[in-house]
Amino acid sequence: MAQIRITGNPNLRLEGKVRISGAKNAVLPAIAASLLTREKLRLKNVPLVKDVYTILTLMKEMGAEYSIRRNSITLQSRDILHEEASYELVRAMRASILVLGPLLARRGKAIVALPGGCAIGSRPIDLHIHGLEKMGATISLQHGYIQAEAKKLRGTEIRFEKKTVGGTENLLMAAALAEGETVLKNCSLEPEVINLCDLLKKMGARIEGIGQETIRVMGVAELGGATHEIIPDRIEAGTFLVAGALTGGNIVLTKTQPKHLTSIIDKLRLSGADISLINSQTIRIRGSENIRPQDITTSPYPGFPTDMQAQFSVLMTQARGTSIITETIFDRRFSHINELLRLGANIDVSGDKAVVKGKTPLSGAEVLATDLRASASLVLAGLIASGETVINDAEHLERGYEGMEEKMQALGAIIELSH
Ligand code: EPZ
Repeated sequence: MAQIRITGNPNLRLEGKVRISGAKNAVLPAIAASLLTREKLRLKNVPLVKDVYTILTLMKEMGAEYSIRRNSITLQSRDILHEEASYELVRAMRASILVLGPLLARRGKAIVALPGGCAIGSRPIDLHIHGLEKMGATISLQHGYIQAEAKKLRGTEIRFEKKTVGGTENLLMAAALAEGETVLKNCSLEPEVINLCDLLKKMGARIEGIGQETIRVMGVAELGGATHEIIPDRIEAGTFLVAGALTGGNIVLTKTQPKHLTSIIDKLRLSGADISLINSQTIRIRGSENIRPQDITTSPYPGFPTDMQAQFSVLMTQARGTSIITETIFDRRFSHINELLRLGANIDVSGDKAVVKGKTPLSGAEVLATDLRASASLVLAGLIASGETVINDAEHLERGYEGMEEKMQALGAIIELSH
Protein backbone atom coordinates (compact mmCIF):
# COMPACT_ATOMS: atom_id res chain seq x y z
CA MET A 1 0.00 0.00 0.00
CA ALA A 2 1.64 3.27 -1.08
CA GLN A 3 2.07 5.92 1.57
CA ILE A 4 3.05 9.61 1.40
CA ARG A 5 4.74 11.28 4.36
CA ILE A 6 4.90 15.08 4.44
CA THR A 7 6.64 17.22 7.04
CA GLY A 8 4.43 20.27 6.84
CA ASN A 9 5.30 23.86 7.65
CA PRO A 10 2.68 26.63 7.95
CA ASN A 11 5.39 29.07 6.80
CA LEU A 12 6.48 26.96 3.81
CA ARG A 13 7.27 28.92 0.66
CA LEU A 14 7.42 26.69 -2.44
CA GLU A 15 9.90 28.21 -4.89
CA GLY A 16 11.34 27.12 -8.20
CA LYS A 17 10.39 25.64 -11.54
CA VAL A 18 8.10 22.74 -12.38
CA ARG A 19 7.67 21.17 -15.83
CA ILE A 20 4.08 20.14 -16.48
CA SER A 21 3.58 16.63 -17.89
CA GLY A 22 1.26 15.53 -20.66
CA ALA A 23 -2.44 15.26 -19.85
CA LYS A 24 -3.70 11.91 -18.52
CA ASN A 25 -7.19 12.74 -19.79
CA ALA A 26 -5.85 13.39 -23.29
CA VAL A 27 -3.56 10.37 -23.59
CA LEU A 28 -6.19 7.82 -22.49
CA PRO A 29 -8.58 8.49 -25.43
CA ALA A 30 -5.57 8.81 -27.76
CA ILE A 31 -4.41 5.32 -26.79
CA ALA A 32 -7.95 3.98 -27.29
CA ALA A 33 -7.97 5.62 -30.75
CA SER A 34 -5.07 3.38 -31.79
CA LEU A 35 -7.66 0.57 -32.07
CA LEU A 36 -9.15 2.41 -35.06
CA THR A 37 -6.24 1.63 -37.38
CA ARG A 38 -3.91 -1.25 -38.25
CA GLU A 39 -1.06 1.21 -38.60
CA LYS A 40 1.32 2.68 -36.05
CA LEU A 41 0.37 5.52 -33.73
CA ARG A 42 3.20 7.47 -32.09
CA LEU A 43 2.19 9.58 -29.08
CA LYS A 44 4.63 12.12 -27.60
CA ASN A 45 4.63 13.97 -24.27
CA VAL A 46 2.90 11.02 -22.61
CA PRO A 47 2.66 11.13 -18.79
CA LEU A 48 3.96 7.82 -17.45
CA VAL A 49 1.26 7.46 -14.79
CA LYS A 50 -0.55 4.37 -13.52
CA ASP A 51 -3.66 4.90 -15.61
CA VAL A 52 -1.52 4.86 -18.77
CA TYR A 53 -0.01 1.50 -17.79
CA THR A 54 -3.52 0.20 -17.01
CA ILE A 55 -4.91 1.08 -20.45
CA LEU A 56 -1.76 -0.29 -22.11
CA THR A 57 -2.39 -3.59 -20.30
CA LEU A 58 -5.92 -3.55 -21.72
CA MET A 59 -4.64 -2.81 -25.23
CA LYS A 60 -2.13 -5.65 -24.98
CA GLU A 61 -4.93 -8.02 -23.88
CA MET A 62 -6.75 -7.07 -27.06
CA GLY A 63 -3.75 -7.87 -29.22
CA ALA A 64 -2.09 -4.48 -29.56
CA GLU A 65 1.67 -4.10 -29.48
CA TYR A 66 3.38 -1.10 -27.93
CA SER A 67 6.77 0.22 -26.95
CA ILE A 68 7.68 3.06 -24.61
CA ARG A 69 10.75 5.27 -25.03
CA ARG A 70 11.01 8.00 -22.38
CA ASN A 71 7.72 9.90 -22.73
CA SER A 72 6.75 8.54 -26.15
CA ILE A 73 4.61 5.49 -26.86
CA THR A 74 4.34 3.69 -30.18
CA LEU A 75 1.20 1.55 -30.50
CA GLN A 76 -0.09 -0.77 -33.18
CA SER A 77 -3.24 -2.92 -33.32
CA ARG A 78 -2.53 -4.93 -36.45
CA ASP A 79 -5.15 -7.48 -35.46
CA ILE A 80 -7.63 -7.22 -32.63
CA LEU A 81 -7.59 -10.71 -31.18
CA HIS A 82 -9.88 -10.08 -28.26
CA GLU A 83 -12.73 -7.56 -28.05
CA GLU A 84 -13.20 -7.78 -24.30
CA ALA A 85 -12.32 -5.26 -21.59
CA SER A 86 -12.42 -7.22 -18.35
CA TYR A 87 -14.13 -6.09 -15.14
CA GLU A 88 -10.79 -6.22 -13.35
CA LEU A 89 -9.29 -3.62 -15.70
CA VAL A 90 -12.42 -1.48 -16.09
CA ARG A 91 -12.85 -1.40 -12.29
CA ALA A 92 -9.21 -0.30 -12.00
CA MET A 93 -9.83 2.50 -14.46
CA ARG A 94 -13.28 3.47 -15.69
CA ALA A 95 -11.80 5.30 -18.68
CA SER A 96 -11.41 1.79 -20.15
CA ILE A 97 -14.95 2.43 -21.40
CA LEU A 98 -13.25 4.50 -24.12
CA VAL A 99 -12.45 1.30 -26.04
CA LEU A 100 -16.16 0.67 -26.62
CA GLY A 101 -16.56 3.05 -29.57
CA PRO A 102 -13.29 2.12 -31.31
CA LEU A 103 -13.89 -1.63 -30.93
CA LEU A 104 -17.40 -1.34 -32.38
CA ALA A 105 -16.13 0.79 -35.25
CA ARG A 106 -13.17 -1.44 -36.07
CA ARG A 107 -14.49 -4.91 -35.24
CA GLY A 108 -18.25 -4.56 -35.02
CA LYS A 109 -18.16 -6.18 -31.60
CA ALA A 110 -17.22 -5.19 -28.05
CA ILE A 111 -17.62 -6.68 -24.61
CA VAL A 112 -16.79 -4.11 -21.96
CA ALA A 113 -17.42 -4.43 -18.24
CA LEU A 114 -19.78 -1.84 -16.82
CA PRO A 115 -17.51 0.58 -14.95
CA GLY A 116 -19.58 0.69 -11.81
CA GLY A 117 -19.39 3.57 -9.36
CA CYS A 118 -16.36 5.12 -7.78
CA ALA A 119 -15.50 7.51 -4.98
CA ILE A 120 -16.74 10.56 -6.87
CA GLY A 121 -20.14 9.32 -7.94
CA SER A 122 -22.29 6.83 -9.81
CA ARG A 123 -20.55 7.37 -13.18
CA PRO A 124 -23.28 6.03 -15.53
CA ILE A 125 -22.55 5.49 -19.23
CA ASP A 126 -26.12 5.73 -20.56
CA LEU A 127 -25.19 8.59 -22.90
CA HIS A 128 -22.42 6.51 -24.49
CA ILE A 129 -24.80 3.58 -25.02
CA HIS A 130 -27.70 5.72 -26.28
CA GLY A 131 -25.46 7.33 -28.89
CA LEU A 132 -24.03 4.04 -30.13
CA GLU A 133 -27.52 2.49 -30.35
CA LYS A 134 -28.61 5.45 -32.48
CA MET A 135 -25.70 4.57 -34.78
CA GLY A 136 -27.14 1.07 -35.18
CA ALA A 137 -25.36 -0.88 -32.46
CA THR A 138 -27.24 -3.62 -30.61
CA ILE A 139 -26.29 -3.30 -26.97
CA SER A 140 -27.34 -5.47 -24.06
CA LEU A 141 -26.16 -5.56 -20.45
CA GLN A 142 -25.49 -9.06 -19.21
CA HIS A 143 -23.64 -10.28 -16.12
CA GLY A 144 -22.13 -6.83 -15.53
CA TYR A 145 -20.86 -6.54 -19.08
CA ILE A 146 -21.92 -4.39 -22.03
CA GLN A 147 -22.32 -6.72 -25.01
CA ALA A 148 -22.31 -4.56 -28.14
CA GLU A 149 -22.53 -5.55 -31.81
CA ALA A 150 -22.84 -3.55 -35.03
CA LYS A 151 -22.32 -4.87 -38.53
CA LYS A 152 -21.55 -1.35 -39.63
CA LEU A 153 -22.16 1.79 -37.59
CA ARG A 154 -24.27 4.31 -39.48
CA GLY A 155 -23.92 8.07 -39.26
CA THR A 156 -26.86 9.90 -37.65
CA GLU A 157 -27.62 12.95 -35.52
CA ILE A 158 -26.97 12.58 -31.76
CA ARG A 159 -27.62 15.23 -29.12
CA PHE A 160 -26.05 14.58 -25.72
CA GLU A 161 -28.63 15.26 -23.00
CA LYS A 162 -25.79 16.60 -20.88
CA LYS A 163 -22.14 17.38 -21.42
CA THR A 164 -20.09 14.19 -21.28
CA VAL A 165 -16.35 14.18 -22.02
CA GLY A 166 -16.08 10.41 -22.37
CA GLY A 167 -19.35 10.17 -24.25
CA THR A 168 -18.19 12.79 -26.75
CA GLU A 169 -14.87 10.97 -27.18
CA ASN A 170 -16.43 7.53 -27.61
CA LEU A 171 -18.91 8.74 -30.21
CA LEU A 172 -16.25 10.74 -32.10
CA MET A 173 -14.13 7.60 -32.44
CA ALA A 174 -17.14 5.48 -33.45
CA ALA A 175 -18.27 8.07 -36.03
CA ALA A 176 -14.83 8.28 -37.65
CA LEU A 177 -15.32 4.85 -39.28
CA ALA A 178 -19.13 4.87 -39.57
CA GLU A 179 -21.05 4.92 -42.86
CA GLY A 180 -22.13 8.46 -43.71
CA GLU A 181 -22.21 11.61 -41.62
CA THR A 182 -22.65 11.81 -37.86
CA VAL A 183 -23.67 15.11 -36.27
CA LEU A 184 -22.86 15.28 -32.56
CA LYS A 185 -24.65 18.04 -30.64
CA ASN A 186 -23.96 19.42 -27.17
CA CYS A 187 -20.38 18.09 -27.32
CA SER A 188 -17.93 18.69 -24.49
CA LEU A 189 -15.47 21.51 -25.23
CA GLU A 190 -12.60 20.28 -23.04
CA PRO A 191 -9.09 20.68 -24.55
CA GLU A 192 -8.68 16.91 -24.25
CA VAL A 193 -11.61 16.41 -26.66
CA ILE A 194 -10.01 18.85 -29.11
CA ASN A 195 -6.68 17.03 -28.78
CA LEU A 196 -8.45 13.77 -29.70
CA CYS A 197 -10.10 15.41 -32.73
CA ASP A 198 -6.69 16.69 -33.86
CA LEU A 199 -5.32 13.15 -33.61
CA LEU A 200 -8.27 11.62 -35.49
CA LYS A 201 -7.81 14.19 -38.28
CA LYS A 202 -4.12 13.28 -38.54
CA MET A 203 -5.25 9.66 -38.91
CA GLY A 204 -7.46 10.65 -41.85
CA ALA A 205 -10.79 11.28 -40.15
CA ARG A 206 -13.02 13.96 -41.67
CA ILE A 207 -14.17 16.22 -38.81
CA GLU A 208 -15.67 19.70 -38.86
CA GLY A 209 -16.54 21.94 -35.92
CA ILE A 210 -13.62 20.96 -33.69
CA GLY A 211 -13.86 22.93 -30.44
CA GLN A 212 -17.54 23.68 -30.95
CA GLU A 213 -20.69 22.17 -29.42
CA THR A 214 -21.75 20.72 -32.78
CA ILE A 215 -19.21 18.46 -34.47
CA ARG A 216 -19.78 16.83 -37.86
CA VAL A 217 -17.91 13.63 -38.72
CA MET A 218 -17.99 12.10 -42.20
CA GLY A 219 -17.06 8.43 -41.79
CA VAL A 220 -14.21 6.99 -43.88
CA ALA A 221 -13.43 3.40 -44.83
CA GLU A 222 -10.23 3.24 -42.84
CA LEU A 223 -7.84 5.35 -40.81
CA GLY A 224 -4.05 5.48 -40.94
CA GLY A 225 -1.27 5.94 -38.46
CA ALA A 226 -0.04 9.28 -37.11
CA THR A 227 2.42 10.99 -34.80
CA HIS A 228 0.78 13.19 -32.20
CA GLU A 229 1.74 15.37 -29.24
CA ILE A 230 -0.36 15.07 -26.10
CA ILE A 231 -1.36 18.47 -24.65
CA PRO A 232 -0.04 19.49 -21.22
CA ASP A 233 -2.09 18.50 -18.18
CA ARG A 234 -4.18 21.50 -17.17
CA ILE A 235 -5.22 19.88 -13.88
CA GLU A 236 -1.63 19.16 -12.88
CA ALA A 237 -0.84 22.78 -13.75
CA GLY A 238 -3.81 23.97 -11.69
CA THR A 239 -2.69 21.82 -8.77
CA PHE A 240 0.77 23.42 -8.77
CA LEU A 241 -0.75 26.89 -9.13
CA VAL A 242 -2.82 26.22 -6.01
CA ALA A 243 0.36 25.00 -4.25
CA GLY A 244 1.99 28.33 -5.07
CA ALA A 245 -1.02 30.33 -3.91
CA LEU A 246 -1.34 28.26 -0.73
CA THR A 247 2.28 28.73 0.39
CA GLY A 248 2.82 32.35 -0.62
CA GLY A 249 5.36 30.82 -2.95
CA ASN A 250 6.99 31.78 -6.23
CA ILE A 251 6.64 29.00 -8.80
CA VAL A 252 7.30 29.00 -12.55
CA LEU A 253 5.32 26.40 -14.54
CA THR A 254 6.91 25.41 -17.87
CA LYS A 255 5.55 23.34 -20.79
CA THR A 256 1.99 24.32 -19.89
CA GLN A 257 -0.88 25.83 -21.90
CA PRO A 258 -2.08 29.02 -20.12
CA LYS A 259 -5.07 29.30 -22.45
CA HIS A 260 -6.45 26.07 -20.93
CA LEU A 261 -6.17 27.52 -17.42
CA THR A 262 -8.29 30.68 -17.73
CA SER A 263 -11.00 29.79 -15.22
CA ILE A 264 -8.43 28.55 -12.68
CA ILE A 265 -6.17 31.60 -13.11
CA ASP A 266 -9.14 33.97 -12.80
CA LYS A 267 -10.21 32.47 -9.47
CA LEU A 268 -6.66 32.38 -8.12
CA ARG A 269 -6.13 36.06 -9.03
CA LEU A 270 -9.42 36.95 -7.34
CA SER A 271 -8.18 35.12 -4.23
CA GLY A 272 -5.10 37.35 -4.23
CA ALA A 273 -2.44 35.45 -6.15
CA ASP A 274 -0.25 37.28 -8.65
CA ILE A 275 -0.06 35.26 -11.89
CA SER A 276 1.92 36.44 -14.90
CA LEU A 277 2.34 34.99 -18.36
CA ILE A 278 6.05 34.67 -19.22
CA ASN A 279 5.50 33.17 -22.67
CA SER A 280 2.98 30.94 -24.46
CA GLN A 281 4.08 27.90 -22.43
CA THR A 282 5.30 29.46 -19.16
CA ILE A 283 3.52 31.11 -16.25
CA ARG A 284 4.67 32.35 -12.87
CA ILE A 285 2.57 32.46 -9.71
CA ARG A 286 3.43 34.48 -6.60
CA GLY A 287 1.20 33.63 -3.66
CA SER A 288 -0.26 36.30 -1.42
CA GLU A 289 -0.02 36.57 2.37
CA ASN A 290 -3.65 37.52 2.42
CA ILE A 291 -5.84 34.91 0.68
CA ARG A 292 -9.34 36.16 -0.09
CA PRO A 293 -12.35 33.77 0.07
CA GLN A 294 -13.93 32.83 -3.26
CA ASP A 295 -17.15 31.05 -4.16
CA ILE A 296 -16.69 28.51 -6.95
CA THR A 297 -19.19 26.46 -8.92
CA THR A 298 -17.77 23.67 -11.05
CA SER A 299 -19.02 23.43 -14.63
CA PRO A 300 -18.04 21.94 -17.98
CA TYR A 301 -15.13 23.59 -19.85
CA PRO A 302 -14.47 26.48 -20.08
CA GLY A 303 -15.98 26.74 -16.58
CA PHE A 304 -14.12 25.97 -13.35
CA PRO A 305 -13.08 22.31 -13.61
CA THR A 306 -14.57 19.74 -11.25
CA ASP A 307 -11.10 18.16 -11.20
CA MET A 308 -9.80 21.29 -9.42
CA GLN A 309 -12.55 21.50 -6.81
CA ALA A 310 -10.81 19.50 -4.08
CA GLN A 311 -7.51 21.34 -4.51
CA PHE A 312 -9.16 24.75 -4.45
CA SER A 313 -11.11 23.89 -1.29
CA VAL A 314 -7.75 23.46 0.51
CA LEU A 315 -6.74 26.98 -0.53
CA MET A 316 -10.02 28.30 0.79
CA THR A 317 -9.29 26.86 4.27
CA GLN A 318 -6.52 29.50 4.42
CA ALA A 319 -8.68 32.35 3.12
CA ARG A 320 -9.90 34.95 5.63
CA GLY A 321 -13.65 34.43 5.43
CA THR A 322 -16.24 32.02 4.09
CA SER A 323 -16.18 30.33 0.66
CA ILE A 324 -18.97 28.30 -0.90
CA ILE A 325 -17.87 25.43 -3.18
CA THR A 326 -20.65 24.05 -5.40
CA GLU A 327 -20.02 20.76 -7.23
CA THR A 328 -22.40 20.42 -10.18
CA ILE A 329 -20.74 17.67 -12.25
CA PHE A 330 -20.51 14.66 -9.94
CA ASP A 331 -22.98 13.57 -7.31
CA ARG A 332 -20.48 12.64 -4.60
CA ARG A 333 -17.24 14.52 -4.99
CA PHE A 334 -16.64 15.66 -1.41
CA SER A 335 -14.95 12.53 -0.02
CA HIS A 336 -11.77 14.59 0.60
CA ILE A 337 -13.65 16.84 3.03
CA ASN A 338 -13.79 14.28 5.86
CA GLU A 339 -10.03 13.87 5.57
CA LEU A 340 -9.46 17.64 5.53
CA LEU A 341 -11.53 17.86 8.73
CA ARG A 342 -9.03 15.47 10.34
CA LEU A 343 -6.34 18.02 9.46
CA GLY A 344 -8.29 20.77 11.21
CA ALA A 345 -10.24 22.34 8.36
CA ASN A 346 -13.61 23.94 9.07
CA ILE A 347 -15.93 22.77 6.28
CA ASP A 348 -19.64 21.96 6.27
CA VAL A 349 -21.08 19.86 3.45
CA SER A 350 -24.74 19.99 2.55
CA GLY A 351 -25.98 18.57 -0.75
CA ASP A 352 -23.87 19.88 -3.61
CA LYS A 353 -22.27 22.60 -1.47
CA ALA A 354 -19.24 22.70 0.81
CA VAL A 355 -19.02 25.81 3.00
CA VAL A 356 -15.38 26.47 3.88
CA LYS A 357 -14.55 28.78 6.79
CA GLY A 358 -11.05 30.23 7.03
CA LYS A 359 -8.41 30.99 8.02
CA THR A 360 -7.91 27.73 9.93
CA PRO A 361 -4.43 26.49 10.89
CA LEU A 362 -4.02 22.85 9.84
CA SER A 363 -2.21 20.19 11.87
CA GLY A 364 -0.69 17.04 10.44
CA ALA A 365 -2.53 13.72 10.82
CA GLU A 366 -2.92 10.29 9.23
CA VAL A 367 -5.45 10.51 6.39
CA LEU A 368 -6.86 8.33 3.60
CA ALA A 369 -6.79 9.08 -0.13
CA THR A 370 -10.10 8.14 -1.78
CA ASP A 371 -9.58 9.22 -5.38
CA LEU A 372 -7.05 10.96 -7.60
CA ARG A 373 -7.89 14.62 -7.01
CA ALA A 374 -8.79 14.05 -3.34
CA SER A 375 -5.27 12.67 -2.84
CA ALA A 376 -3.82 15.79 -4.48
CA SER A 377 -5.81 17.96 -2.07
CA LEU A 378 -4.41 16.01 0.90
CA VAL A 379 -0.85 16.59 -0.36
CA LEU A 380 -1.56 20.33 -0.60
CA ALA A 381 -3.03 20.41 2.92
CA GLY A 382 -0.11 18.39 4.29
CA LEU A 383 2.38 20.93 2.92
CA ILE A 384 1.08 23.71 5.21
CA ALA A 385 -0.08 21.59 8.16
CA SER A 386 2.12 21.77 11.26
CA GLY A 387 3.77 18.43 11.91
CA GLU A 388 3.67 15.24 9.89
CA THR A 389 0.85 14.16 7.56
CA VAL A 390 0.68 10.54 6.43
CA ILE A 391 -1.51 9.81 3.38
CA ASN A 392 -2.53 6.17 3.00
CA ASP A 393 -3.76 4.56 -0.26
CA ALA A 394 -1.47 6.97 -2.08
CA GLU A 395 -1.72 4.81 -5.23
CA HIS A 396 -4.59 7.12 -6.16
CA LEU A 397 -2.13 9.97 -6.63
CA GLU A 398 0.12 7.92 -8.88
CA ARG A 399 -2.81 7.26 -11.22
CA GLY A 400 -2.73 10.77 -12.62
CA TYR A 401 0.31 12.75 -11.45
CA GLU A 402 3.72 12.01 -12.97
CA GLY A 403 6.51 12.46 -10.41
CA MET A 404 4.51 14.57 -7.99
CA GLU A 405 6.90 13.68 -5.14
CA GLU A 406 10.03 14.74 -7.05
CA LYS A 407 8.37 17.87 -8.42
CA MET A 408 7.26 18.98 -4.96
CA GLN A 409 10.69 18.15 -3.45
CA ALA A 410 12.34 20.33 -6.11
CA LEU A 411 10.13 23.21 -4.94
CA GLY A 412 11.17 22.77 -1.32
CA ALA A 413 8.56 20.40 0.10
CA ILE A 414 9.60 17.66 2.52
CA ILE A 415 7.61 14.77 1.02
CA GLU A 416 8.33 11.06 0.62
CA LEU A 417 6.32 8.44 -1.28
CA SER A 418 6.90 4.84 -0.22
CA HIS A 419 5.40 1.49 -1.35
C1 EPZ B 1 -13.86 12.84 -17.65
O1 EPZ B 1 -14.60 11.83 -17.00
C2 EPZ B 1 -12.53 12.92 -16.92
N1 EPZ B 1 -11.85 11.64 -17.05
C3 EPZ B 1 -12.78 13.25 -15.44
O2 EPZ B 1 -11.50 13.37 -14.81
C4 EPZ B 1 -13.49 14.59 -15.37
O3 EPZ B 1 -13.79 14.88 -14.02
C5 EPZ B 1 -14.78 14.55 -16.18
O4 EPZ B 1 -14.53 14.12 -17.54
C6 EPZ B 1 -15.39 15.95 -16.21
O5 EPZ B 1 -16.56 15.98 -16.91
C7 EPZ B 1 -11.20 11.34 -18.21
O6 EPZ B 1 -11.18 12.13 -19.15
C8 EPZ B 1 -10.50 10.03 -18.27
P1 EPZ B 1 -18.27 12.88 -18.02
P2 EPZ B 1 -15.96 11.25 -17.68
O7 EPZ B 1 -18.77 11.84 -18.94
O8 EPZ B 1 -15.82 11.29 -19.17
C9 EPZ B 1 -22.58 12.09 -16.15
C10 EPZ B 1 -9.87 12.90 -13.19
O9 EPZ B 1 -9.79 13.16 -11.98
N2 EPZ B 1 -22.72 11.09 -17.21
O10 EPZ B 1 -17.93 14.23 -18.59
O11 EPZ B 1 -16.30 9.99 -17.03
C11 EPZ B 1 -21.49 11.72 -15.15
O12 EPZ B 1 -22.00 10.87 -14.15
C12 EPZ B 1 -11.18 12.42 -13.78
O13 EPZ B 1 -8.92 13.04 -14.01
C13 EPZ B 1 -23.96 10.49 -17.38
O14 EPZ B 1 -24.92 10.78 -16.66
O15 EPZ B 1 -17.00 12.37 -17.22
C14 EPZ B 1 -21.10 13.07 -14.60
O16 EPZ B 1 -22.06 13.45 -13.63
C15 EPZ B 1 -12.25 12.30 -12.71
N3 EPZ B 1 -24.10 9.56 -18.36
C16 EPZ B 1 -21.23 13.99 -15.81
O17 EPZ B 1 -22.12 13.31 -16.72
C17 EPZ B 1 -23.07 9.22 -19.20
O18 EPZ B 1 -23.27 8.37 -20.09
C18 EPZ B 1 -19.92 14.28 -16.52
O19 EPZ B 1 -19.31 13.02 -16.81
C19 EPZ B 1 -21.81 9.85 -19.02
C20 EPZ B 1 -21.66 10.79 -18.02
